[in-house]
Amino acid sequence: MEEIDKDNLPKHIAITMDGNGRWAKTKGKLRVFGHKNGVKAVRDTVEGAAEIGIKYLTLYAFSTENWNRPEKEVNALMTLLVSAINKETKTLMDNNIRLSAIGDIEKLPSKAQTELQEAIEKTKDNTRMTLVLALSYSSRWEILNAVRNIIKDGKKAEEINETTFQQYLTTKSVPDPELLIRTSGEYRISNFLLWQIAYSELYFTDTLWPDFRRTDLYKAILNYQNRERRFGKTTEQLQK
Ligand code: FPP
Repeated sequence: MEEIDKDNLPKHIAITMDGNGRWAKTKGKLRVFGHKNGVKAVRDTVEGAAEIGIKYLTLYAFSTENWNRPEKEVNALMTLLVSAINKETKTLMDNNIRLSAIGDIEKLPSKAQTELQEAIEKTKDNTRMTLVLALSYSSRWEILNAVRNIIKDGKKAEEINETTFQQYLTTKSVPDPELLIRTSGEYRISNFLLWQIAYSELYFTDTLWPDFRRTDLYKAILNYQNRERRFGKTTEQLQK
């Protein structure tokens, strides 16, 4: 933590939390056991991110494609989500963290929607960090949804540019992530924030999500700080 340059922090970090199932398997347990331990990793990572000064943290908690998992696992994940939000709202308040969500939230069971809305409402004035949960989220869904709404609003082709399009995405009030982390040794984007990660630095770690802690987050931030972000320019142009 001491090695991190506080003046060069990513404002927004996005994480694909992967490997819960494999973690459980290595322990001879059911997948749900992995998800339960995944919640511990969520707690430590959220606290660690707020502590170091990250302003936005987005966690990919449930993808549109995850609805295709066995019903039992989907139900267990939804139950876990409800109980985690319920239990952790206090932690969010204590840490001055605002909760928000992106995705096709209306697809979630009504209990989960209510719990989520309550926590969002309760934490809405918190200012230290915004925790964004991606739930029933997929980037293609989001982009198509944006296009549909643009058409519904009767926008003209000439009115559409990066800035106006951005306003139709579920992330409209969140800056693009500078850093995207994926755990469990998989090197894929899996339909996550496709528009928003155009210039993000990607960081992959073999650590399975339930083992991930704030120290792993800090390692990723240090790695990010040692990269040169050129945005299409040359090194010489950046030094001017
Ligand atoms: C990926 O592991 C993880 C998920 C699909 C769910 C993530 C959910 C949590 C950590 C718990 C609830 C979250 C919050 C925000 C309270 P996987 O099942 O794909 O693992 P595998 O690739 O090893 O099978």
